[in-house]
Amino acid sequence: MRRKVGVIGAGHVGECTAMYLAERNIADVVLVDIIEDMPVGKGLDLSQAGPIRGYDCWVNGSNDFADLKGCEMVVHTAGLPRKPGMSREDLITSNADIIKSCTEKVKEYAPDAMILMVANPLDIMTYHSYKVSGFESNKVFGQAGILDSTRFRCFVAMELGVSMNDVQALVLGGHGDTMVPLPRYTTVGGIPITELIPEDRIQAISDRTRTGGGEIVKLLKTGSAYYAPAAATVQMVDSVLNDRRRVLPLSAHLTGQYGINDLYIGVPAVLGANGVEKVLELDLSSDELGSLQKSAGIYKDMLSVIGY
Ligand code: 2OP
Repeated sequence: MRRKVGVIGAGHVGECTAMYLAERNIADVVLVDIIEDMPVGKGLDLSQAGPIRGYDCWVNGSNDFADLKGCEMVVHTAGLPRKPGMSREDLITSNADIIKSCTEKVKEYAPDAMILMVANPLDIMTYHSYKVSGFESNKVFGQAGILDSTRFRCFVAMELGVSMNDVQALVLGGHGDTMVPLPRYTTVGGIPITELIPEDRIQAISDRTRTGGGEIVKLLKTGSAYYAPAAATVQMVDSVLNDRRRVLPLSAHLTGQYGINDLYIGVPAVLGANGVEKVLELDLSSDELGSLQKSAGIYKDMLSVIGY
């Protein structure tokens, strides 16, 4: 039987996620949105591109959450995007209601699915979906660390004038301005960037990474980034559905790791058929650990805004 992935929200992130999933022949997609007919049109359009682009995955758009039945994973992209000048955290109350109602639908129609959260503020919405669904914590996780790390990878490659494919990077912490780029774990062809780029430039690249989403919001003026967020999401879906056990930074539920308890935050983890198979605990320096815990503290406080 064909694998089936649900994508809730047929805005830019949702449609790009559906497109990349189909283009890589990973799974059939059910693209659900409440806007009448719109997801059906996008699904047809994406399916009709298949014969030319060389894929045979179907993208079926729907206004009916019941069509999520049989999905192994559901990607949550529904929610308001930022406008220029807003932080991701400004979206907390408006998006919490959307996440709650969508998660209840997933629970009703796809109770065995894993939930991959993409809506902002990411770490808070992932926690919210975990609580509302009542699913095991390894089956609810959030995309963001891959996105933040790919921005870091791009900026390092731009700085050095090398292929971005040769850059590996790690960004931990919350998906916001307190995220924690880790130059010590960032390499180019295996060489630590601390040996290739002067300290002040590493600092500038780290700062640009932290505000990388906002930079795009400011340029687009009417929404936030979607190509890279969707690409990061699809890398995670692929790792789960094909049990690749990739080591990826993602928003995982912590139960004491890094001195953080009962919170979703960006950490490196093994992602496979059971979802988050393992959180990897790095031997961070006291500065790095302090930054991660500071980021976690901000999100822990923020949970009270939506009643936790
Ligand atoms: C970003 O960083 C939308 O949060 C997403 O671009």
